[in-house]
Amino acid sequence: MTQHPLKPRRSALYMPGSNARALEKAKSLDVDCVIFDLEDAVTPDQKPAARQAIIDALTGGGYGDRELIIRSNGLDTPYIDEDLKAVVAARPHAVLLPKVNTPGDLQRLAHKLAVLNAPTDLAIWAMMETPQAILNAPAIAACGRDPEVRLSCLVLGTNDIAKETRAALNPGRAVMLPWLMTCVAAARAGGIDILDGVFNAFQDGEGFAAECAQGAEMGMDGKTLIHPKQIEACHAAFSPSEEEVAWARRINDLFDLPENADKGAIQVDGKMVERLHADMGLRVIAIADAIAARA
Ligand code: COA
Ligand code: MG
Repeated sequence: MTQHPLKPRRSALYMPGSNARALEKAKSLDVDCVIFDLEDAVTPDQKPAARQAIIDALTGGGYGDRELIIRSNGLDTPYIDEDLKAVVAARPHAVLLPKVNTPGDLQRLAHKLAVLNAPTDLAIWAMMETPQAILNAPAIAACGRDPEVRLSCLVLGTNDIAKETRAALNPGRAVMLPWLMTCVAAARAGGIDILDGVFNAFQDGEGFAAECAQGAEMGMDGKTLIHPKQIEACHAAFSPSEEEVAWARRINDLFDLPENADKGAIQVDGKMVERLHADMGLRVIAIADAIAARA
């Protein structure tokens, strides 16, 4: 269970900070999170204008209850200090740091933000996209329990993982599964959320739906997206279905019956159901309620 108030993070749409049309369009798109990019989607000469466009967009408002995240450049780039000044001026909910290698990187970021007097409720999100990040995943995700760092979400960077490790990023992602699942376990141990990587072929609806289903099955909280076309299928995969919610309510109601008060396990439709399943159901209900409240 995440420590922060439960927020659906089914979809997180990246957009280049330099793309004014996209920044405007995001105000009307049905996404849970918007990631305004200053890193790879913005060329070096466009970075200053992108920072200003993001500040203007965020301070101008109009994004409703979407969670707003700015992705900065990496800590060891010449852009980071100007990026963080822009973050403080724009006041997003979180800053997403790319190329994280160690928990020390997140502590360095938190320190830089403190020096800039960033608001104390500004969260940090971490890209998991280097071999070091995967090998250090438990220690990085443990920053979710460090009030000085306020790490709230891991974001998989599968394109960079493929580049840095030379492992293939193929349909089904078979060779990457151990790394992806390690990050899921690390996120849960740290009490934080985790979002799956992007699917590049945004015209391939079938392939995308399959990868969304896989991410949901893996326990991801949602998926990062690159195109508005991907939102609907993403929400279909990461929202609890009506059947799941009905089942969750039913087993909780059964455990609430006086005759089951002293039982740890009961039989429902020929299946063993334990109180842990009822607890899992409470989370499903809470997410469904939070989604309904957003709609
Ligand atoms: N966010 C918001 N709106 C987007 C968008 C995005 N990521 N991607 C496309 N759109 C909008 C376009 O502005 C266009 O809007 P309009 O028709 O109202 O003018 C509409 O969706 C259709 O766009 P389309 O023509 O299909 O795509 P494109 O060729 O303009 O752009 C990409 C394709 C891949 C360049 C673009 O989707 C993109 O920049 N994605 C994000 C890239 C990114 O941030 N990468 C970093 C992290 S991996
Ligand atoms: Mg990357």
